[in-house]
Amino acid sequence: MTLRVFAPGRVNTMGDHIDYLGGLVLPLALPQGTMVELSPIEGGQHEAFSSSHGEARWPIGTPPAASGQWFDYLAGALAPLDRAVSVTVDSNLPQGSGLSSSASLLVALITARNAFQGHQASPLEVAIEARQVEVEHIGLNCGIMDQYASALGEAGHALRLDCEHLRHESVRFELGSAELWAVDSKAPRKLAGGVYNQRVAECAEIERLAGGNDWFAMTPDLPAPLDARLRHIQSEQARVIETCEAAEQGDLVRWGALMNESHRSLSRDYEVAGDAMDRLQAALSGSRGCYGARMTGGGFGGCVIALIERESVPSVQQQVAQAYGDTQWIPCTPSAGARIL
Ligand code: GLA
Repeated sequence: MTLRVFAPGRVNTMGDHIDYLGGLVLPLALPQGTMVELSPIEGGQHEAFSSSHGEARWPIGTPPAASGQWFDYLAGALAPLDRAVSVTVDSNLPQGSGLSSSASLLVALITARNAFQGHQASPLEVAIEARQVEVEHIGLNCGIMDQYASALGEAGHALRLDCEHLRHESVRFELGSAELWAVDSKAPRKLAGGVYNQRVAECAEIERLAGGNDWFAMTPDLPAPLDARLRHIQSEQARVIETCEAAEQGDLVRWGALMNESHRSLSRDYEVAGDAMDRLQAALSGSRGCYGARMTGGGFGGCVIALIERESVPSVQQQVAQAYGDTQWIPCTPSAGARIL
């Protein structure tokens, strides 16, 4: 028996670095993602093949500690299996672009593993477990957004996801004459994991100083830079609510302005953008025909998303090539979540 599962990557259109605080976020699943094929084999070792990373083998049972290898994710996700499997992994997401290749890999693997074992699990249960593997096995203290979008994405809709109650409303984007693009900065994402966990730790400190976790209403007196961190958290949540309104009404000017504000907040107050993202965002938002642009995801490399008049896309691409340099453009087409093929 061979099981084939596809799980998509995602872009987050508004609400970054607030999912791990129970905030509202607005991701959509992409058409691109990760495909896994899983089949049983004899013996005491799992084996894996990836078109971009090569081969790996590890014993069934307790997974080896994560050590920065590509198959760490496989070892974590397949740990509950008591018989050996062979896994093939293939991705059509641009490498290192911050479009959640790791979440899509975990969601695909856990969906395949459940089907293989005959376990009934809802997409939400898959997302929760995928996050747990990322936190407990890989060591990134991430929120649920990426795994949720990959497991529960909807064609034609973004998800207004409430990360506290783990439920979403579908949001239809009225793009009119515009298009939403993810533009890969091609900047290496070296700092991403370390700074990410540092921000999560700063939030724990804010919570301690504020004496509670009422994130979106608290008004504590905080020292720098914690005051700026909280300013981002609270203003970003408000921008998610406003973006849903602007997107549903097709108010492109307001939507674009919210994207620019969000980028400024992530860059100056939360300090997770980094130089390359700032330059790319400036190049995009300064181009004629672009309503606004913001980094998406964890930051420090990866993609900037931009809302652009359809007929201006080629000229914005030219302006960005001159002002920034080499990029890769991915259309943000809202797509369905993980599925068994
Ligand atoms: C990464 C994490 C998510 C989220 C974003 C920032 O993608 O995996 O949980 O925190 O960064 O919004």
